[in-house]
Amino acid sequence: DTRAIPILINVLEDKSQEPMVRHEAAEALGAIAHEEGIPVLAKFSSDSVVEVAETCQLALERVQWVKDLESCSLKDDNPYKSVDPAPPASSSNVAELKTVLLSEKAALFERYRAMFALRNLRTAPAIKALGSALRCGSALFRHEIAFVLGQLQREEAIPFLKESLEDQNESEMVRHECAEALGSIATDECTEVLGKYLRDEKRVVKESCEIALD
Ligand SMILES: [Fe+2]
Repeated sequence: DTRAIPILINVLEDKSQEPMVRHEAAEALGAIAHEEGIPVLAKFSSDSVVEVAETCQLALERVQWVKDLESCSLKDDNPYKSVDPAPPASSSNVAELKTVLLSEKAALFERYRAMFALRNLRTAPAIKALGSALRCGSALFRHEIAFVLGQLQREEAIPFLKESLEDQNESEMVRHECAEALGSIATDECTEVLGKYLRDEKRVVKESCEIALD
């Protein structure tokens, strides 16, 4: 909704906000994909907080992609109906997609495109490929991997999510998404691991586990 743009711009510009909140504001500007968001996204593409800078870069690429497609109809094969930060890659070859996903040399936007293509496949090998990416790339990249594993709601992802939630040195943004994902998979094993972090020293982790258990 374009009416949200001024509010989102204010949040993104406010450096006293938590990085995670500014990240969500930038991501929302990318999802709305309106020209009005371009200057502010460009401005913060070099923000000192890496997660915010990378989100702005991705959002700018998404706005450009939407603009390029405006004349054609936006073909959407996303079974989750979410507005993703990048469109899926056109390949359906797991090995090929995994190579791009894990490549530290590939552009972040291309790695995101591989990620969403793997998610849309919804096969066990695709989920394992996604899980293997939970320990590489930037914190922003890893949090998005955890997010799509949550959308998939498949037990194959549990060991990967568990490992990252349990890693106290992992970014809290990533651990938060892992907790949410375990909450959406919701097996007994998920309940057990979430219960262990109800008193985590990071507020966002603790609260995510609480909500996930509910
Ligand atoms: Fe996010």
